Amino acid sequence: MEAQERLAEAQKLSGRVFGTIHGALVPEVICDHGDGIYLFDHTGRRYIDFSGGPHVVSIGHGNKQVRDAMMRQMEKVSFFYRGFWLNEPLLKLADRIVKVAPSNIGLVQFCNSGSEANETAIKIACQYHVERGHPQKHMIISRWQGYHGMTVGALSASGHVVRRTKFGLLLHNWPKIPAPLCYRCAFDMEYPSCGIKCARVLEETINQVGPQFVAAFMAEPIGGAGTACMVPVKEYYPMIRDICDRHDILFIDDEIICGLGRTGQWFGIDHWGVQPDIITVAKSMTGGYTPMAAVLIAKKIGQVFDETGAPFVHGFTMEGNPVSAAGVLAVLDIIESQKLVERSARIGEYFFQVGRERLAHHSTVGDIRGKGLLMGIELVKNRQTKEPFDPQLKAANHFQRLAMARGCMVYPTTGVDNGVRGDHYLVSPPYNVTEAEIDEAFGLLDAAQTDFENEFLQ
Ligand SMILES: Cc1ncc(COP(=O)(O)O)c(C=O)c1O
Repeated sequence: MEAQERLAEAQKLSGRVFGTIHGALVPEVICDHGDGIYLFDHTGRRYIDFSGGPHVVSIGHGNKQVRDAMMRQMEKVSFFYRGFWLNEPLLKLADRIVKVAPSNIGLVQFCNSGSEANETAIKIACQYHVERGHPQKHMIISRWQGYHGMTVGALSASGHVVRRTKFGLLLHNWPKIPAPLCYRCAFDMEYPSCGIKCARVLEETINQVGPQFVAAFMAEPIGGAGTACMVPVKEYYPMIRDICDRHDILFIDDEIICGLGRTGQWFGIDHWGVQPDIITVAKSMTGGYTPMAAVLIAKKIGQVFDETGAPFVHGFTMEGNPVSAAGVLAVLDIIESQKLVERSARIGEYFFQVGRERLAHHSTVGDIRGKGLLMGIELVKNRQTKEPFDPQLKAANHFQRLAMARGCMVYPTTGVDNGVRGDHYLVSPPYNVTEAEIDEAFGLLDAAQTDFENEFLQ
């Protein structure tokens, strides 16, 4: 079939699929195939996949080692229920994950998506307190502009306003504290004279709602969709850890974006040297080859369940299926054998250097932030006042359209200014991205940024 016919057919059928990402512009291309950092459309045109999904494609597209591992498992058996059989690839995977995790982590529970992982983490935290005789400890405190997923529990913990508003009455009314985002400090203070108010406010909030009602504090170590890769100051997480400990509150670390090497450490929180009680991982762990997510659980939590003999009352039919486990094991083999976490740290420096060289001079770039191979670029109308674009303009979505027209994929998102205004885009290439690919991608984004200014600064 000719490319144009394929497109017309796909556009006709696209009405059959319910749901679009908020604000997204209608796609005008079919994704045909992928190879390394590149994706190709139905006409054969090549795009640099600089956003990896978002943040999923850790080892590049079309990896034959992963394909072969999944095929081998499929030829043996594709599915059996984890409750009835020992699952060899899954057991090996759990062991591998625990080995790279902070030393307090001892157990893993698998599921199928980041949202499920965070939903699971919330329920583990609640049942942990139930088993210890504190069933009233059930609230999850989290941060405005944080994002933890679309299911009801995970969305209740999310402070991403645009994703919450239509479901206001459905969500749990859990407390939120401001994001530790210096560029737009919620307290109009300056670091370090602020005394890290954004961390201290957690304790104030706990005292206001009563620590006897709080199960956990949940946060992304480095911000994602809602804060354009905000990196909290060095004191932040040690203070959070201390506050949680003093009030018998678990710290749930949402590493769905950062986990397994994206930021140049196995886990984003490793940059602060802090040990969370529960860690969730998904995207990079799978490389995009299969849906899978994992919840990493501290030994101290496991001990409580062991002592009471209580099963964790939770689980999903498809969780930990052997084909996905075999695929993720192969992704981990590649990350470890090619030392891609170390590479992500090393080449991440070049990535930020070139990103700043090519983008920082643009009058519509307010801030560039992040770590390793995770970068957020804030789009502003006025760099001096940090005034964002009018949300009606869908500036981030239009930037994505322009970047795609130039041949580069980015992840557009909104809400960085108090949740309701502000546009930004994220870039997060595979860990094996080369210097030449970084040069090429930022060259395209530099041009797209000029296109954007020509369209939006008139
Ligand atoms: C930090 C974070 N947590 C959770 C999720 C939800 O993951 P999923 O879309 O796989 O359900 C996302 C998705 O983007 C995320 O960025």
